[in-house]
Amino acid sequence: MKLLHIDSSIQGENSVSRELSATMVAHLKSASPGLEVTYRNLAQEPLPHLSGSYVAAIYGKGEPDAALKQDLALGAAIVDEFLAADVVVIGAPQYNFSVPSQLKAWIDRITVPGKTFRYTEKGPEGLLGGKRIIVTLSRGGFYGPESPVASLEHTETYLRSFFRFLGVEVEVILAEGLRVSPEQREAAITAARKRIAEMKAA
Ligand SMILES: Cc1cc2nc3c(=O)[nH]c(=O)nc-3n(C[C@H](O)[C@H](O)[C@H](O)COP(=O)(O)O)c2cc1C
Repeated sequence: MKLLHIDSSIQGENSVSRELSATMVAHLKSASPGLEVTYRNLAQEPLPHLSGSYVAAIYGKGEPDAALKQDLALGAAIVDEFLAADVVVIGAPQYNFSVPSQLKAWIDRITVPGKTFRYTEKGPEGLLGGKRIIVTLSRGGFYGPESPVASLEHTETYLRSFFRFLGVEVEVILAEGLRVSPEQREAAITAARKRIAEMKAA
């Protein structure tokens, strides 16, 4: 069994999504000690944004130069790493109402026609059925249906819709209201840790 562990917070050791993604990985490892874990920290090693020539090359257009060949090899490695994983755990903070641009750059690399989804006569079809994807999501405020800023929720909704497009219903561990008060922060983290401990591990 292979597990891909992704973090994308820029807040290093103080990151809540990172602490929770590590807790989730430890929970899964406790049930499957032989689990092979690959770790990728997108804040420490950011992926370059997509370029026009990269996208053209993906669709078989243009003649890649040396720099583009290197970028294509990186993109292929990222998508292969993702496809090889049985389980993917993603630490996803909410920044400015959505995912960090570092995580979006990774999403751009794994959204590859013919690999993770395909176009059919009935519309696009996800190719990742069978993969388990768990997101540990952290944010400063509250964005539930009752919240006056509910319409600014583009993180959980986006990640759920994106991975559904690829054929997977993600499991989301949410810690929110982290900047409301120290007590709320502690309560949200404790509740998220409890949820992780109760999740299916194998
Ligand atoms: C650049 C930046 C933008 C943020 N934007 C939001 C936001 O849109 N909504 C929110 O509720 N919290 C926001 N916050 C607070 C973070 O969501 C909060 O610090 C959370 O812990 C981030 O996860 P992390 O600790 O893993 O980095 C923002 C924080 C930073 C640093």
